[in-house]
Amino acid sequence: MVQGTPEASAPLLWPTLRRVSDPPLIRPIQPSDEGVVGQIAYQTGFFGHSAARYFANERLFARLWVGPYFGGGGFACLVAESRGEVLGYILGSPDPALYGRALRRVLLRRTLAQVLPLRQTWASLPYLLRAGRYPSPHPDWKQFPAHLHINLLPAARGLGLGKRLLAAHLEALAGAGVGGVQLSTTTENRAALELYRQFDFVPLARGSTPLWTPWLGHPAEHVGLGLRLSRRPEDR
Ligand SMILES: CC(C)(COP(=O)(O)OP(=O)(O)OC[C@H]1O[C@@H](n2cnc3c(N)ncnc32)[C@H](O)[C@@H]1OP(=O)(O)O)[C@@H](O)C(=O)NCCC(=O)NCCS
Repeated sequence: MVQGTPEASAPLLWPTLRRVSDPPLIRPIQPSDEGVVGQIAYQTGFFGHSAARYFANERLFARLWVGPYFGGGGFACLVAESRGEVLGYILGSPDPALYGRALRRVLLRRTLAQVLPLRQTWASLPYLLRAGRYPSPHPDWKQFPAHLHINLLPAARGLGLGKRLLAAHLEALAGAGVGGVQLSTTTENRAALELYRQFDFVPLARGSTPLWTPWLGHPAEHVGLGLRLSRRPEDR
């Protein structure tokens, strides 16, 4: 995985941890983070709550949603950490072809053989089939070739870590000459929408989706957002 630039940690009140004198730092992801990042992805994969509600197999979930970024598809991936505890992450890929190749490698070399025999895998199939049937709308991949995911554990939210992770990630993307970045979220993710609005992401694709209706109780509103990037912040 290509690593991003570590951001110097700023003083920050951190009431949920044992010592307020240990402000969280933002650092590049390491291969050894794959397990904990997979766990956080699973714990936050249902609109900020546990993905267990719709996806029984945690290992398969982590392989599919996190594995490609650790398997050659990631760029400038970062974690927020305090006292050695990973609190959240931003995962991104600069190019859909690079990401697609990494996903195929994960599927072919590791995931299927290791997780298919498990009973939870079959229990996760309804979601996978629905995800194939109801794909999310996306901004144009040519204009916005990079994509990202950002997730924090509940206790680490609302403390400015999302802003710090996103700022550092976008700076790395722009510095590498990537022209645009996109992401997919829903109107259920209110904090996320506000975060992206503050960074000037623009809604470019939208649509109601029944993808999560069996678990959410109502259709969700998908929103595809895009942001043009420039090496110089004043050109954005
Ligand atoms: C979305 C998420 C990454 C934001 O990170 P965060 O550290 O909680 O956000 P920050 O503290 O940096 O706040 C950024 C802005 O979001 C807004 N915000 C934060 N928490 C909010 C909340 N609970 N409701 C509404 N807006 C909120 C604020 O406007 C804030 O800016 P401000 O402090 O200048 O007003 C984090 O809340 C999270 O992981 N949520 C669950 C998973 C998720 O939705 N991921 C995104 C999927 S697309």
